[in-house]
Order: sequence, then C-alpha cells, then structure tokens
Amino acid sequence: MKLLDIFGSLKKDMDFIEQQLYRSIEGEEELLGETSLHLLKAGGKRLRPVFVLLGGKFGDYELEKLQYVAVPLELIHSASLVHDDVIDDADTRRGKPTVKSKWDNRIAMYTGDYIYAKALMLATQLTNPEIHRILSKAMVQMSIGEMEQLRDFFNTDQTVRNYLLRIRRKTALLIAISCQLGAIAAGAPAPVSSLLYRYGYNVGMAFQIRDDLLDLFGTEKQIGKPPGSDMRQGNITLPVLYALQEPELRELLLYEIQEIHELDGRKDTSSAIEMIRHSQGIHKAEQLADRYIQKALDALKQLPENKARKNLQDIAHFVNRRTY
Ligand code: IPE
Ligand code: IPE
Ligand code: MG
Ligand code: MG
Repeated sequence: MKLLDIFGSLKKDMDFIEQQLYRSIEGEEELLGETSLHLLKAGGKRLRPVFVLLGGKFGDYELEKLQYVAVPLELIHSASLVHDDVIDDADTRRGKPTVKSKWDNRIAMYTGDYIYAKALMLATQLTNPEIHRILSKAMVQMSIGEMEQLRDFFNTDQTVRNYLLRIRRKTALLIAISCQLGAIAAGAPAPVSSLLYRYGYNVGMAFQIRDDLLDLFGTEKQIGKPPGSDMRQGNITLPVLYALQEPELRELLLYEIQEIHELDGRKDTSSAIEMIRHSQGIHKAEQLADRYIQKALDALKQLPENKARKNLQDIAHFVNRRTY
C-alpha cells in the first residue's frame, strides 16, 4: 500500500496544508525564499502533517486550527534536514541537490534558521502554551540528537543503547509530538493524546531503523540519495552495530570502517556493506523495528475505534515495509 492510498481521505486537507506550507516561507528576502522553496519543491512524504491531521480526528477536527501545528511541524522537519545535510555533508536529498551543495554551508545554516523561525511564527496563532512547550522541547532534543550523532561519527565502541537514545531524540520525538499535538490542538482528552504520543514514538523509532536499513541496502532511486551515505559519513547505525557484535566479522569490519575514516569517505563502501549483508545485522535490526511497530499497534488498540485509527494502523505497517 502506498502512503497516499492510506490517507486518501485526507487528500483535500493535505492539499490545503501543502499550499499553506508554500505560503509560510514566502516573501521577506529573495534568496531565503528561494533556498527554502527548493527543499519543499523537492517533495517528501509529508508524514508529520499527516500525523497531525490524524491526531486531530480524535478531537474536534478543525483544519483552520490544525494547520498551525501541521505546517510548523513539517517546517521544523525541513529545517532540521537542511542543517542535517550540512552535518552529514550530503549532496543529494529527495533526488535533488541539497541546499548546502546547490548554494553553500553558510546559506544552508541561515535557510534552516529561517525555516525554524517561520515555524515558530505560525505556531503563535495558537494560544495554548502547552503546545509551545512541547514543540520547543522537541527542538532542543533534536539538536542534542544531532550533536550526539556528530560526536559518535566513526565511534565503533558505541552501544545499541547509545544508538537508540540518539534516534529517539533526532527522529522519534518529532513524530511522537506530531500525533500528540494534533490531538491536543483538537482538544482531545489527555489520555488520548498520550496514547497517540506513544504510538508516534514507537513508529518513529521503527521509521529511523528502516531509514538506516534503506541507507545501506536501498537504491538511489528509492531513497533519493546515494546508498551507503551513512557508512561514508561514519554514522554507525543499528545493522552495523549488530554486525560488529559477531566475533568472526568484527575485526574485518572494524578494518573497513577505519579505512573509510582514514580516506575521508573516498573509499568504496561496498565491501563493508557486503559484510553487513552477510551478518545477522539486517535481520536483528528488522526484528527490533517489528517490536517497535508492535508497540505502536498496541497503543492504538487502546484508542477509540475510528477511521483515523485504521489509517494510523496502515501507516505503521507502511513504515515497516517502506522502500522510500
Ligand atoms: C528523513 O525523514 C529524515 C529522517 C528522520 C529519517 P523523511 O523520510 O520523513 O523525509 P521526507 O520528508 O519524506 O523527505
Ligand atoms: C535524520 O537523520 C535527520 C534528522 C532527524 C534531522 P539522517 O541523517 O539519518 O537522515 P537522512 O538519512 O539524512 O534523511
Ligand atoms: Mg544525519
Ligand atoms: Mg543525513
């Protein structure tokens, strides 16, 4: 099932959100308008706003209001990607050149700042301080997560626990609060928004584990960037950590990773990736992703039964099978 099939019934509302997204970054300064538009135009799954709208279905659904959460969340996601591509020195995203490669790192820095600020500006349309507190806390955690990743580049001694804490911060929390804030903005009861948070958190963890698997084994066409980027950048992900736990592989794989490090990512990563392919790493990472998806589905079961719940269930399955 494709993502669009799942939220087909939200298509009209998502078209509106899309329009508002474009509007949100307009004006002010020509270059910043152009650089921000560049990433938006390249597409993306728009998963976070979809989660906001679905969360809103558990309360009094008002698109007029929900837009002020949905658009900021996609903007925060976009800004984090512009900055992430600087940190990861990535040239391609969503099949297009990144802001940092089309322009440069300095411009990418201010583009990210600009998009973050636009996100906050829009959110001020909502007066509930809890929404602002949740949003800013997540932004702080994302920065910490990206910092941790930077610090752990090429650190082959890190534990699975380190990895999980990092992806919780850099990815899962934003997805969790997308589900939660949709419900809060729609005035849903607190137990409902907490369950949605739990759903989003677990889906978010699985989402990043899948992203890391795709980075190793997806094709450029599927993932919109050259595979093996994490390996080249020294981002040690879950399948790699599991492969490193295998005594007969460990030394060889450590050697490959060290070579990639020494050659500053210019070394061909295919033999390292081949080793991981032949390890238990893929299977074990997939198993962990399955466990998170199961937890997400368990949280859903406690929510009132409605169409949005079914959509969220389908999205959880999509995330676990996704190829893009
Ligand atoms: C990419 O997120 C960054 C991660 C958190 C893995 P998405 O896969 O949602 O990116 P787009 O918005 O669809 O491009
Ligand atoms: C996710 O990290 C980006 C953020 C949460 C900011 P990655 O570095 O794994 O994401 P991609 O692979 O570049 O999309
Ligand atoms: Mg990154
Ligand atoms: Mg990246």
